Amino acid sequence: MTASLGSSIDNLASPEAEQTVLEIRGQSTLAGEVKISGAKNSALVLMAGALLCPDECRLRNVPELLDVARMGQILSELGVSLRQQGDVVDINARNLSESQAPYELVSQLRASFFAIGPILARLGVAHVPLPGGCAIGARPVDLHVRGLQAMGAHVDIDGGVVNAYIPGSKKRLQGAKFYMDYPSVGATETLMMAATLAEGETILENAAQEPEVEDLANFCISMGARIKGAGTNTITIEGVPRLHSSDYSIIADRIEAGTFLVAGAITKSEIELVGIVPDHLAAAVAKLQEMGVKVVSTGRDHLRVLPTENLKAADIQTLPYPGFPTDMQAQFMALMTVSEGSSAITETVFENRLRHVAELIRLGADIRVKGNTALVRGVPALSGAPVLATDLRASAALVLAGLAAQGKTTIFGLHHLDRGYEKLEQKMQKLGARLQRVKTSAKLEASNGNPSVESVLQ
Ligand code: EPZ
Repeated sequence: MTASLGSSIDNLASPEAEQTVLEIRGQSTLAGEVKISGAKNSALVLMAGALLCPDECRLRNVPELLDVARMGQILSELGVSLRQQGDVVDINARNLSESQAPYELVSQLRASFFAIGPILARLGVAHVPLPGGCAIGARPVDLHVRGLQAMGAHVDIDGGVVNAYIPGSKKRLQGAKFYMDYPSVGATETLMMAATLAEGETILENAAQEPEVEDLANFCISMGARIKGAGTNTITIEGVPRLHSSDYSIIADRIEAGTFLVAGAITKSEIELVGIVPDHLAAAVAKLQEMGVKVVSTGRDHLRVLPTENLKAADIQTLPYPGFPTDMQAQFMALMTVSEGSSAITETVFENRLRHVAELIRLGADIRVKGNTALVRGVPALSGAPVLATDLRASAALVLAGLAAQGKTTIFGLHHLDRGYEKLEQKMQKLGARLQRVKTSAKLEASNGNPSVESVLQ
């Protein structure tokens, strides 16, 4: 019943979404509690992980997102049957085929490339289009490819498609020791999944330690995989011949949680986050506390942010986990624009993840970019304006800035937001924020002779 998953694509990515903008009236105080959804970056890779299993798997706490719907569409093109009811997704990869997922889908969802590991491990052959770059960077996959080659796969890239196959009659990858030049999240996940069905032991050194990597390992273990060390920089996988069904609940989204903590801080409000894993937010909470924001633990899976009058600027450098997460950089930059003093925000993970600077400046922020560092000088207040979202986390930063700004902020490019935040407006409205989606004919074009948002931003 792919239709149900497919239909969520329709209502989330309909052409209207392109003509819908988000209007925010700033300076409301927020209050109340918000339930944080399941982690996007777990849901996507665990859906790929389900391809390792020839029986039905159930994933719970799956957020209803454009990216999840797209992943469902891509997997169904590979012969996988999927059914989504609420936050439960049933996936049956019994009839997984070696056909190639369509480029136009893979290019829109980098995470779908991670399926190359499970497909190759299950079928002995895989043809997956290169995902290509996106707004934040070139997004190469050399570590994925080199790791699969280390495990005995022959891999070539032809016409933008990565073709991998296991030579010989065995059709099984061989365990290997592989050092990752960079602790890539996706490469760690691709290789860990491939290794679960390999012959012998695989050791991934300098592996990514993100909670989503650990979540994927726990899901694979629940299917019978033998994995040790996930969440550390060395992961050991003992291959098994086959995996079995599992019913698994994914972790909460630490980036959505961090975004709401910043929403509380930037509006000087008190809000409670429910259904989270506080440990996954250690870097973001430490940075907020350095800025004078009080964040208190109110339960095993709760955090509360308290009203803070004087925010103090602080420096940030994004790093692989457990360092400060790159996916929180834009949101914290929004907070820095109205914090007392100057801060230096250095993006070390992606080469082009400062594009939200131009839009924040349109809202009155004082920011100068030098290389991969943004120098932010706090201003007393932002003032609302039309702005253009350029990527998922940039759009979250613009929502946060709009909540703090005087007057009305209109955000264009909402399809970015729908990729990664489940029901963001509803959650914000429930907390008292004044924001709503409105249809507009000014689809980033000049309207009434005013310069279009895009032309102003050039
Ligand atoms: C994952 O992307 C996340 N996406 C990203 O979240 C997140 O920002 C990123 O990890 C870092 O935490 C998903 O999990 C679906 P990487 P991924 O491989 O795996 C370089 C969001 O907003 N690299 O850790 O693609 C790469 O160019 C998204 O939710 C290679 O050089 O990230 C980058 O500079 C954005 N060769 C750095 O590593 C490779 O083979 C980190 O990339 C792979 C990566």
